[in-house]
Amino acid sequence: MKREIPEVAKDLAGKDKIGILFVCLGNICRSPAAEGVMRQLVEERGLEKRFKIDSAGLYGGHAGDLPDHRMRVHAIQRGYGLIHRSRKVRMSDFDDFDLIVSMDHSNYDRLREMAPTVDDEKKVVRMIDFVKGFPQCDCVPDPYYDGAEGFELVLDLLEDGCVNLLDVLAV
Ligand code: 4NP
Repeated sequence: MKREIPEVAKDLAGKDKIGILFVCLGNICRSPAAEGVMRQLVEERGLEKRFKIDSAGLYGGHAGDLPDHRMRVHAIQRGYGLIHRSRKVRMSDFDDFDLIVSMDHSNYDRLREMAPTVDDEKKVVRMIDFVKGFPQCDCVPDPYYDGAEGFELVLDLLEDGCVNLLDVLAV
């Protein structure tokens, strides 16, 4: 699968206030990690006022939970303290955010199906499209049933992709 920066992201470049929602299945591993990585980048660049960042999951079974302990351990080793509480994606997210960044193809397809309008459907993009390295990956894979390498790979992909996503938006 060829990666391409989605047009919707290019169209948002330079906008005053940009809302980004990261979405995975459980909202306890990948998307709260993406939120943490992006929050830190935005803070480092002093852009807090321009960006609203959140995360959510398509499966609501972990609602209210902190991120998975393994994800928190791997993240804190790189300086990211993850304190998000899991929540399910809601229809109002399509109004409240400019970009809805999915972690894998299943997340992407389900979010596109949920989108109430064609314009909202266009807000749904894939995280992997912003990743420059890791040519062997075609998504940010679910680490839930993997060992430590799975969680490290998630963070590697997110650190690569979030820098490039922010570079596109924060011109
Ligand atoms: P995530 O990982 O989508 O990256 O948060 C998962 C977490 C929980 C489950 C699946 C994936 N689960 O089936 O409970």
